[in-house]
Amino acid sequence: MADRIVGKVAVVTGAASGIGRAVARRFVAEGARVVGGDIDEVGLAALAAELGDAFVAARCDVTVEADVASLVELATSRFGGLDIAVANAGGGTAAELADHDFAEWRRVVDLCLHGAFLTVKHAGAAMRTTGLGGSIVTIASLNAVQPGRGMGAYCAAKAAVVALTEVAAMELGPAGVRVNSVAPGLVRTSATSRLWNRPGGVDEFVENTPLGRFAEPEEVASVVLFLASDEASFVSASLYGVDGGARTKRYPDTISAIQRLRGAAT
Ligand SMILES: NC(=O)c1ccc[n+]([C@@H]2O[C@H](COP(=O)([O-])OP(=O)(O)OC[C@H]3O[C@@H](n4cnc5c(N)ncnc54)[C@H](O)[C@@H]3O)[C@@H](O)[C@H]2O)c1
Repeated sequence: MADRIVGKVAVVTGAASGIGRAVARRFVAEGARVVGGDIDEVGLAALAAELGDAFVAARCDVTVEADVASLVELATSRFGGLDIAVANAGGGTAAELADHDFAEWRRVVDLCLHGAFLTVKHAGAAMRTTGLGGSIVTIASLNAVQPGRGMGAYCAAKAAVVALTEVAAMELGPAGVRVNSVAPGLVRTSATSRLWNRPGGVDEFVENTPLGRFAEPEEVASVVLFLASDEASFVSASLYGVDGGARTKRYPDTISAIQRLRGAAT
């Protein structure tokens, strides 16, 4: 095993599924200890049973500040410190701006942006206090840099996560804390599973990706691992695409596909 993050302590939000789960698994496989937070306690319990003593799970709603503060404190109380934080929890919705329900808009921005802010805030404060530095990785999205029709709340929140990451890198850099963002393209997780359930739902993504396929969560976890480790010791305020080159093409017209399906169903 390469000595990348052996003995380090990490917090991962949204750890019960998809990219967060792949990151938690990879970190433990690389010799780190992980505190995983999620609102899905069943998913967390399954992961805890799989990963054993190197993993501690806690219910954590990233939109609730006390939950995020407790998650970070747990890293110190159980494992003696905090070296790495991954602000991963997030999710979107589908609606055009002129029709957008405001409560639904707020839900998406609260989850994606405020959740990342609270994770950066509490993890950054803990890392600054130890004086040992650290690495924070935010999971943004291809949609931070490539707009998609019907994805206004998600695009706006993820673009803001990139800006948040850059400011955090400026503010925490003097304390030796690096802050970077990862922007995945289409990844097969529970969040995107409905695309696979829809005939042709993935085709437009694949056609608009130079590598001609979608990603598995483990491919995002590899880049998060790099950024979390000392191999990225002079990398901060950066945005790493994990999109097979999709940024060079166009984002699929998912809202039209959804509208066509809704029409077919009525
Ligand atoms: N899957 C993709 O194609 C893709 C692409 C780009 C970016 N992303 C981003 O990657 C991140 C992970 O997404 P995923 O695809 O693994 O999704 P997922 O649905 O598989 O996992 C998300 C996890 O977050 C948890 N969660 C939801 N709300 C929460 C809250 N308030 N507090 C704590 N946990 C909460 C869920 O319970 C779930 O376990 C998200 O930020 C998402 O926006 C995903």
